[in-house]
Amino acid sequence: MRALIAGNWKMHGLEAQLDEIETIAASVKASPPAVDVLICPPSTLISRAVQKSAGRLNIGGQDCRSEADGPFTGDVSAEMLKDAGASTVIVGHSERRKHYGESNSMVAKKAQAAWRAGILAIICIGETATQRREGQALSTCGHQIAGSVPDEMTLAANAIGYEPLWAIGTGRSATHDEIVEVHAYIRKCLVTRFGAKGRNLRILYGGSVDPSNAREIMALPEVGGLLVGGESLKAKEFDSILRVV
Ligand code: G3P
Repeated sequence: MRALIAGNWKMHGLEAQLDEIETIAASVKASPPAVDVLICPPSTLISRAVQKSAGRLNIGGQDCRSEADGPFTGDVSAEMLKDAGASTVIVGHSERRKHYGESNSMVAKKAQAAWRAGILAIICIGETATQRREGQALSTCGHQIAGSVPDEMTLAANAIGYEPLWAIGTGRSATHDEIVEVHAYIRKCLVTRFGAKGRNLRILYGGSVDPSNAREIMALPEVGGLLVGGESLKAKEFDSILRVV
């Protein structure tokens, strides 16, 4: 399966930021990278990002509600994301879990909603610095996978995003040993639960990925792609990350 490199813009980006998408799309057209490319801008920019990407990039959402519609002021459903042109949605990002108290079962419902709407879900998991210090990195990730990954997971081409919380936005990515250990453990959990189909899910690494460390991280076993935050906001940096494979 092709690797996936995804940019998560988080709550950054006004209209002018769409120029970055135009630049990346032009570069991808001129010289297609060996990976699938996804950019997840804020919801307000999704439709225009789809236009600007001219079919060269996948555009995704950063979250969705599990219901298709209803009295949920301010929320966006997976169906609405799909309608806006999104192919994918990130669910269970640690910032959602932290700031909105999203539980594993809520995340699983959101992933099911993505499946129902016919879009890909990237389910995010990851341990805190304290959990890692106390030797609970693997058990935390195992628990999150058990609770956040729905049974439908293998019916569509979905992905797991491993983002250790202490590596997000800190400029300190996980070490190669840490990434290899956790990715192998995630794969083991998926295969134990889903059998051979558990091998089809891409496992993405996220946390302070930049042009200087992307190539080596991508070469590690069981790393099927990257989730890039800050460095995805700048076309030049993101484009160079797309070229590391
Ligand atoms: O979802 C990607 C993100 O959480 C990683 O952010 O800025 O450390 O690349 P960053």
